[in-house]
Amino acid sequence: MPGPPIMGWQTFGDQHVMRRVFFTAIALAACTSALALEPESESPQAQARVLAQEFVALLKPRLKQAMEEGGPTRAIAVCADAAPGIADALSTQSGWTVERVSLKSRNASRAAPDPWERSVLLEFDRRQAAGEDAANISFGEIVGNRYRYMQAQGVEPLCLLCHGKGLADDVQETLKQYYPDDWAVGYSLGEVRGAISLSTAVEVDSAP
Ligand code: HEC
Repeated sequence: MPGPPIMGWQTFGDQHVMRRVFFTAIALAACTSALALEPESESPQAQARVLAQEFVALLKPRLKQAMEEGGPTRAIAVCADAAPGIADALSTQSGWTVERVSLKSRNASRAAPDPWERSVLLEFDRRQAAGEDAANISFGEIVGNRYRYMQAQGVEPLCLLCHGKGLADDVQETLKQYYPDDWAVGYSLGEVRGAISLSTAVEVDSAP
């Protein structure tokens, strides 16, 4: 993917430096996680849950800090690098494939769902519309020789600044620079913005 323009990005301007920082952050976070302690003893579903939580726990503080430092336009710059960086670092560290997907993607090169993800996302929308809290919506199953799991990400007040309706002009402008093909706007509170999608190879019993 062609890299987005770097704006106001000083501390972590170098991709490699950033990766190192994330690996360190993840190594530290991993010390306390069940995943790092007993990876084999946990069910794939439990491992997926820990990874999904870890993704949010790593990204959200960075997002909030960037918002406090320089508002949403600064946070977009951080998110553009940090979110894919965290997904990749978690994948490398865990051996799982960790991604974020959406029916209305912002990062078209990473977030377009495959057919299984698309059908799960449609089901998540139905479940949310029927009254379930997006934060509690998840689904996992074995598909072929992989265990696949998705955890919905619901729209909270913070998210509306960059994914809501009637975005501020400078936010729209910055988003356009990074994501000319951005569909991830117009959301309302509580809706399913997308999902963290995880998968890992499992041994499937082929006996009839
Ligand atoms: C400061 C602006 C900003 C805020 C606030 C924000 N996001 Fe995003 N969001 C982005 C950007 C930028 C991307 C694209 C990141 C990338 O390139 O992977 C993105 C991508 C995503 C994606 C990945 C799928 C896609 O469309 O690319 C999900 C899911 C998502 N955001 C959910 C949320 C949720 C849930 C919240 C609130 C808790 C939130 N976002 C708050 C800017 C923001």
